Amino acid sequence: MDNIIYWYSGTGNSLSAARRLAEHLHGETVLLPVTALLYGYEQPAASVYGFVFPLYGAEAPWPVLEAIKQLKLPENAYTFAAATCNERGGVALDDLNNYMMDHGMKLSYGRRIDMPGNCLPSSDEENAERLRYEESEVQRIADNVNRRMLSSFHGGNPHMKTVEDRRSSMHRAGLDRWVVNDSCIRCGTCASLCPMHNITLKDGIPQFGNECGFCFACWHWCPAKALSLAEFPVFSPEGRSQYRHPDISADDLREQSKYGKNK
Ligand SMILES: Cc1cc2nc3c(=O)[nH]c(=O)nc-3n(C[C@H](O)[C@H](O)[C@H](O)COP(=O)(O)O)c2cc1C
Ligand code: SF4
Ligand code: SF4
Repeated sequence: MDNIIYWYSGTGNSLSAARRLAEHLHGETVLLPVTALLYGYEQPAASVYGFVFPLYGAEAPWPVLEAIKQLKLPENAYTFAAATCNERGGVALDDLNNYMMDHGMKLSYGRRIDMPGNCLPSSDEENAERLRYEESEVQRIADNVNRRMLSSFHGGNPHMKTVEDRRSSMHRAGLDRWVVNDSCIRCGTCASLCPMHNITLKDGIPQFGNECGFCFACWHWCPAKALSLAEFPVFSPEGRSQYRHPDISADDLREQSKYGKNK
């Protein structure tokens, strides 16, 4: 195998970028959800290992960081990250390189891609423009990976917080405190999409556990806008509009939930 790309995505931006990257990379490429690595299912050997994921609070999602710990990289493997975000990426890729170094690896190359926001809203005009530029942004990353470009990472937080610290700070902020309202039609879409299997259905009504991966797929794909985050009025039925990448379907994203602890 030449290239493996692991992806994590709630509203399709990162999956779309990962698919486009696969089209432009030289050689044979396998696309796998990060959950396959996280739960120890599949890890074909390759020369190039890529990660495509959204940024949350200018950091890689905790399931991605946990999954990276499982990597068994051959000597001289080239690694890259493409982080999709809403223009506020901070030092996420420097931090990711620090994190990988803490685990005996190194990030060879990384770049952010500005995409429509699925947390703080971005305007329709911004979204249309970012989707227009997605292809050229991805092409640039693929070209750089094909010629094995090396990024010079410097800065970031030299003393990385643990994955658990990051996860619990998002939990304390209430970003996983989902509330179901009366308009729920008991369709189960949220449970079927959740990459972390954090939603179970009781009489068809979703119940949320403690394994949220903060992807917001449940909110953006709910056909009844039946979910809210108590502390964040923007995530209420009256709040921002839902967003889904135009080229990605719910079935495409369900690939992530095929893998899990009890599957
Ligand atoms: C909980 C949460 C936090 C986010 N924090 C940031 C952030 O700090 N900076 C930023 O630029 N985008 C942020 N975003 C926006 C996403 O990174 C962006 O929309 C991304 O492209 C979504 O990718 P996906 O469709 O693959 O899930 C956040 C999204 C969520 C759900
Ligand atoms: S997706 Fe929405 S309507 Fe369907 S079960 Fe979940 S909360 Fe209810
Ligand atoms: S509960 Fe919702 S936000 Fe949390 S991981 Fe599952 S789908 Fe994503």
